[in-house]
Amino acid sequence: MYIYNQYDQRAVDERVAQFRDQTRRFLAGELSNDEFMTLRLMNGLYVQLHAPMLRVAIPYGLLSSRQMRMLAHIARKYDKGYGHFTTRQNIQYNWPRIEDAPDILADLASVQMHAIQTSGNCIRNVTSDPLAGAAADEIEDPRPYCEIIRQWSTFHPEFAYLPRKFKIAVTGASHDRAATLVHDIGLRLVRNNSGEVGFQVLVGGGLGRTPILAQTIRPFIEKEHLLSYLEAILRIYNLHGRRDNKYKARIKILVQSLGIERFREKVEAEWHKIKDQMQLDAREIERVKAFFAPLPYAPGAGDDREILVKAGTDAAFNRWLKYNVADHKVKGYRVVFIALKATGTPPGDITDIQMDAVAELADRYSFGLIRATHDQNLVLTDVKHSDLYTLWQALAAQELATPCIGTLADMICCPGSDFCELANASSIDVALMVQQRFEQLDYLYDLGELRLKMSGCMNGCGHHDIGHIGILGVDKKGEHWYQFSLGGFALNEGRLGERLGRSVPKAEVANTLEKLMCVYVDKRVEGERFVDTFNRIGIEPFKERVYETNH
Ligand code: HEM
Ligand code: SF4
Repeated sequence: MYIYNQYDQRAVDERVAQFRDQTRRFLAGELSNDEFMTLRLMNGLYVQLHAPMLRVAIPYGLLSSRQMRMLAHIARKYDKGYGHFTTRQNIQYNWPRIEDAPDILADLASVQMHAIQTSGNCIRNVTSDPLAGAAADEIEDPRPYCEIIRQWSTFHPEFAYLPRKFKIAVTGASHDRAATLVHDIGLRLVRNNSGEVGFQVLVGGGLGRTPILAQTIRPFIEKEHLLSYLEAILRIYNLHGRRDNKYKARIKILVQSLGIERFREKVEAEWHKIKDQMQLDAREIERVKAFFAPLPYAPGAGDDREILVKAGTDAAFNRWLKYNVADHKVKGYRVVFIALKATGTPPGDITDIQMDAVAELADRYSFGLIRATHDQNLVLTDVKHSDLYTLWQALAAQELATPCIGTLADMICCPGSDFCELANASSIDVALMVQQRFEQLDYLYDLGELRLKMSGCMNGCGHHDIGHIGILGVDKKGEHWYQFSLGGFALNEGRLGERLGRSVPKAEVANTLEKLMCVYVDKRVEGERFVDTFNRIGIEPFKERVYETNH
């Protein structure tokens, strides 16, 4: 992984010292609330319903075991013993004290971490494919480019006060696991007709109150032009994005109002002015690539016979292998998903003890590296086949082996009204109700792949618009109601979910889901997932079933 040099470390240390002084002045009454707000947001510190909330950046979701141990230490020392992994591959703490924030940031800096670019109208922490470097379907590892973009965007003086926040995602695989379609800029590593690798550039995607899927602004840009092209897009956005209305300020609204052609013309004109002075040197790419060199895999490793036997005799182990373990590009290795979805636990939550355990297991079995996914799980990407049984037992002992990846129980959910000031409704308790209702593994497996995503308001932090089933919390005269949408997804292609009909009260959410499942089970043909059946039969049969008793 990337290791800070002396300049990176100095920049982060200086930032901690500045924030320490800013916090001191605020607590002494020398800075007003408003003055301090701008400063704290630049360091990831929000103030939410009950307490401040600190969002820590995990660049492209990659963590070392040492960093994970520090996250555990912070949860233990300054919070209530847990943290929450988010859909943007970051971690949030819900209960830190403002007084402690400078110490937390100093602790983070000691392991090359910070909370910069996790808030405010800047280029946010770059996200990527959690399987980068290990995925069998990869054209090229996206992480060096994520790192290059991180270095370009951090403290970029021209883009510190954009009209609104700006999110970039990069994928290098043929199967897009980074949701590039719903980012302000999505980058996909692709090969052109002459076999050269470069980027397809998508622009203007986003969720929130106006969900829009990104469009391709350029089907191919050479690597040396990556930064100049990004710079040109950001400049046009910075210049023309709407600053008068924060609900219309994201780049998606600009692209929509200008139309992709006119937006492209402007970007290309700007790009032609800067492209020759801003070339990304091949040596610089190589320098950064060296930080992500292939891991020292055991030569000639293959699949272990004993594991195959155990899979045949131990049903629970076999279930875990089937759902939580994926192929690796290197023979004899596997990718292991650590599900943060145990029944009774809010999706994405993890305790300090579990974090320490994951760090330990990463050291023992996966080269000391851990990834966070935008489905609010963790991954050990490089596990030897022969270690799978022991690893499974260790994860199960920590309640980290729920065999549910890709099923309804693997739902995504935002903090909702339990923690978030903007919420219309709760989402965590609804997630827990759904978990309980669908606890029966055989039933879950029969329902197959199902992406359930839930947000507590239309800001869409829980990605509800791109869920096979999306649930959105709405407020009806102070009560929490829930709006369903069906058929959304965002992979290489995408579609926003279609609204089912009027919202249902909290007590009806699990029943409504069950009715949707009944229609699916009833209508599906062999091999069809929920979303495929929905595509074939449309929304009407689902509507009829859900609202039938109310006629
Ligand atoms: C608790 C404090 C949080 C606040 C105040 C907050 C606020 C917001 C707001 C206002 C938006 C809409 C922005 C727009 O459309 O311009 C948004 C979008 C989003 N947030 Fe959050 N959020 C919070 C927590 C989270 C968490 C916990 C996650 C991950 C689980 C998350 C991930 C996202 C994502 C993925 C989007 C939509 C993508 C996009 O920007 O278009 N946020 N958030
Ligand atoms: S979707 Fe709404 S309720 Fe949920 S975290 Fe985002 S802003 Fe808060």
